[in-house]
Amino acid sequence: MANNELAEVSIDSLLKENRKFLPNKKFSENYILKDYNTYKRMYNSSIKDPKKFWEKMAATHLVFFKKWRSVFKWKDYKAEWFIGATLNISYNCLDRHVNSDRKNKAALIWEGEPGDVKTYTYQQLYSEVMICANMLKSLGLVAGDKAAIYMPLIPEAMIAMLACTRIGVVHTVVFGGFSSNSLRDRIQDSGCKILFTADGGFRKGSVVKMKEMADEALLETSTIKNVIVVKRTSEKVNMKTGRDLWWHEYSAKQAKVCEAIPLSSEHPLFILYTSGTTGKPKGLLHTTAGYLLGATVTTKYLFDIKETDIYWCTADVGWITGHSYVVYGPLSNGATVFMYEGAPTFPEPDRFWKMISDHKVTTLYTAPTAIRSFIRLGNEYPLKHDLSSLRLLGTVGEPINPEAWIWYNEVIGKKKCPIVDTWWQTETGAAMIAPFPGIMATKPGSATNPFFGIEPVILKKDGTKAKGNEGGYLCIKNPWPYMARTIYGDHDRYKKTYWKEIEGHYFTGDGAHQDKEGYFWIMGRVDDVINVSGHRLGTMEIESAAVHHPSIAECAVVGRPDPIKGQGIVAFITLKKSEKVNSHLKEDISKFIVKEIGTLARPDDIRFTEALPKTRSGKIMRRLLRELATTGVIKGDTTTLEDFSVLEKLREKDED
Ligand code: WTA
Repeated sequence: MANNELAEVSIDSLLKENRKFLPNKKFSENYILKDYNTYKRMYNSSIKDPKKFWEKMAATHLVFFKKWRSVFKWKDYKAEWFIGATLNISYNCLDRHVNSDRKNKAALIWEGEPGDVKTYTYQQLYSEVMICANMLKSLGLVAGDKAAIYMPLIPEAMIAMLACTRIGVVHTVVFGGFSSNSLRDRIQDSGCKILFTADGGFRKGSVVKMKEMADEALLETSTIKNVIVVKRTSEKVNMKTGRDLWWHEYSAKQAKVCEAIPLSSEHPLFILYTSGTTGKPKGLLHTTAGYLLGATVTTKYLFDIKETDIYWCTADVGWITGHSYVVYGPLSNGATVFMYEGAPTFPEPDRFWKMISDHKVTTLYTAPTAIRSFIRLGNEYPLKHDLSSLRLLGTVGEPINPEAWIWYNEVIGKKKCPIVDTWWQTETGAAMIAPFPGIMATKPGSATNPFFGIEPVILKKDGTKAKGNEGGYLCIKNPWPYMARTIYGDHDRYKKTYWKEIEGHYFTGDGAHQDKEGYFWIMGRVDDVINVSGHRLGTMEIESAAVHHPSIAECAVVGRPDPIKGQGIVAFITLKKSEKVNSHLKEDISKFIVKEIGTLARPDDIRFTEALPKTRSGKIMRRLLRELATTGVIKGDTTTLEDFSVLEKLREKDED
């Protein structure tokens, strides 16, 4: 629901930004597109005839077992692309490279937090994936069945994802930082038959007890028949007889070969849960051909993949960024992926820079939050290391403030690496607005121009176009191949959320404006979704978790600007009549929310109040709370407020 006012999401520093950086000449010379005009020509033709454009892209970049009969159909908000064709994603990411000069090229270089390093060539990754697919088959899984993956960032997570795609099993990866309750809900919603997990993972020098969390989740699920457990930390874990299998033992019993099966273009590929405006996260369903095409071509053009690149996207595979830019996009392009298990600052704040120098990483794709925390740590850490291998930098997940952009450019990129600020969403599948490096001038804080075939428009609530550089709702005209096809089990919600808000357009939930040169500036969410460290959280989701706490009567959650995390979480809480505020209560509530959702939902600030400000119809006036949490002052219209005294009390509390 677009119920916030756009004015609230405007970020002053972005509106005033007018610096412009021309593409680096040396970079441009080796880039796949000749110049900006080439982009413009290709872009225009992709918009004029999208079917023809995508057909050509698909034929050039993917291997199909059977060609499509027709390119596109859109009926009752159901999209189909490359109708009648068959292909296999694991084949595109592995077999085609194994059958080429890339056979012995590194597909994955992985470093664990304790410093252990493993490398898999394409041939080795392919062998591991086939064995893993055979594990799934031998446990009775067939195309269309669902598998959950709840793992640390270790090679087996990538192997499990690719193994699923090899036989058409639909994966749902659940970020390892989510709680057992979140894992349980996702397993229940998608009906997974199998769970991949590990005995634990390393994070900041300690062991995250994933198997224990998984066991807890499984107490309340009925569909999981087997659990495959990777031995990562050698932490002692309970293995349930008849259900739990060690990966290393069970895989040793499998046949070595498993052919990739032909799947139809619209075969479900994965379900990935993300937060929306209700209490319940939604499972976005992506399908095979269109998704892979988007991941492949955006990786190729935006990250300028070269044969010798060592490409590092720092996202966890539990997020869409990890799906598209750690696994599918780079592997489909035959790139060498670097992956790191642990915390960015462990054991020392220079860990990232040390690894870039040790592994000669050429491409770094990370989130503004990470950049801002590195700035705070101090320049001495990156300056200690040789970062000369880097040739391209990317950012994703939240608006990047110009200061962070400039630091990234100067201290990390040494003013020679293009910065590719990619705007996109779990729903969009892959990047939508981003500079084509080497041929586009960049402006700090702007995601610049649309990708081929994508037509963003800025609309007002009534569906008319915003004029000039007026702010509005960022929407996309027409469906595109790599968009999510539905919300799993709830197509009506999909229709309503994305296509009915402004009829006939895809509604992103973000506010944006365009400058005189047509550059897009994303201003942040316009709905009740907040973005904490580049992670999406629904305010309602946190509220519904909080009200299960025995002391809480009501809870309203809002975001407030945070210098490092982008946004922080503020929870306004009223207690049940019998309850009193005591010194432990804040910590207790915090822990409770973390247990319900995961550490990323830990509130930055909890404020107790006697009542929440509500409209006469009983709706919580979040706008006021947001204002109060942000500035401590309320200027907004309060004429619909039910009880003014509530506001006074909240203000007093704020001044305490
Ligand atoms: C925000 C992550 C500004 C935006 C890929 C979007 C961004 C939400 C950018 C999606 C960017 C992502 N500039 N904002 N470059 N990239 N966002 O689904 O609000 O986790 O709607 O996908 O992140 O988050 P999600």
